[in-house]
Amino acid sequence: MDERVLSNQLLDEEQSLEGNLRPQRLADYIGQESMKKSLRVCMDAATRRGEALDHAIFYGPPGLGKTTIAHIIAKEMGGTIRSTSGLVLTHAGDLAAILANLQPQDVLFIDEIHRLPPSAEEVLYPAMEDYQIDLVIGQGPSLRTMKLDLPPFTLIGATTRAGALTSPLRERFGLVYRLDFYLPEELQVIISRSARLLGIRIDEDAAAEVGRRARGTPRIANRLIKRVRDFAEVKAQGHVTHAVAQEALQWLGVDQAGFDEMDRKILLTIIEKFKGGPVGVEALAAAVHEEKTTLEDVYEPFLLQTGYLDRTARGRQITAKALQHFQISSPLFPQEQ
Ligand SMILES: Nc1ncnc2c1ncn2[C@@H]1O[C@H](COP(=O)(O)OP(=O)(O)O)[C@@H](O)[C@H]1O
Ligand SMILES: [Mg+2]
Repeated sequence: MDERVLSNQLLDEEQSLEGNLRPQRLADYIGQESMKKSLRVCMDAATRRGEALDHAIFYGPPGLGKTTIAHIIAKEMGGTIRSTSGLVLTHAGDLAAILANLQPQDVLFIDEIHRLPPSAEEVLYPAMEDYQIDLVIGQGPSLRTMKLDLPPFTLIGATTRAGALTSPLRERFGLVYRLDFYLPEELQVIISRSARLLGIRIDEDAAAEVGRRARGTPRIANRLIKRVRDFAEVKAQGHVTHAVAQEALQWLGVDQAGFDEMDRKILLTIIEKFKGGPVGVEALAAAVHEEKTTLEDVYEPFLLQTGYLDRTARGRQITAKALQHFQISSPLFPQEQ
């Protein structure tokens, strides 16, 4: 099985294709209804006042549409998006240079904003609050600082860890949105739309099947549909029926719950190594050879939301639903014997 097929991280070769499938307008952005409603009102109000949209932060697991919504906002507000990341902005001067070149209504998108170094954050505070930055000019005895006015712009931050933002930074965002996992019906719509754009012939019930197994994540839904298409081209003259979709998903190693290898590993490790839990997150991370933060930000949210995992005061605990999924009878649980 292709281990990467269910990864919610962006694979290099996908970047351009993702661009093609990425909705351009708010109306094409499926799901996240309350966020869209709020954004629509705020964008209309800002436009009416001739102002930039308030600074906004989007947080949630990878692949749920944070980058996409940032692009949509720039387009809807009639500005250009400038994208960067907290990982590459290691020098405060680079950030100041980007800010100094913004045009009115532009969106400055900072991905992984929780990774910004403190010196860069310092530059952001006056930029966000007063549309100003302090520039240092000259050297030696002629060194002085000068305030530079910026045009009204919108800072959009994205992060998988809302909790990792410093509070002075978090407090400067007027709009804060958490992205939720998508419902299977919403993923079905996304899959049908992507199939149309890619020229894939897919039946409704097949799109629904793929949607149910896409781990609540549009990026995974789009990846699955492309792999299912490959399968269908070889085995079924390119027509994705429900049966073809099921066969293709099985061939891809995507199970009924849409788990990827890591999801299975996490759950089975808790069951087999820790007697079903509770197990502390550090011990669990070490046992599955994954970083604690990745475990918490990328894998756990889906398992918690879908009820395969419980988070208790004493650690992570397996649920009856998970045992059922792996067809393990509960005597494994010492406390239930
Ligand atoms: N609400 C949505 N409706 C339709 N497609 C979406 C939606 N959100 C995300 N996608 C698709 O999923 C892909 C990944 O989304 P992206 O914005 O890059 O996720 P994130 O930045 O949160 O990791 C996009 O290229 C897009 O094709
Ligand atoms: Mg992104």
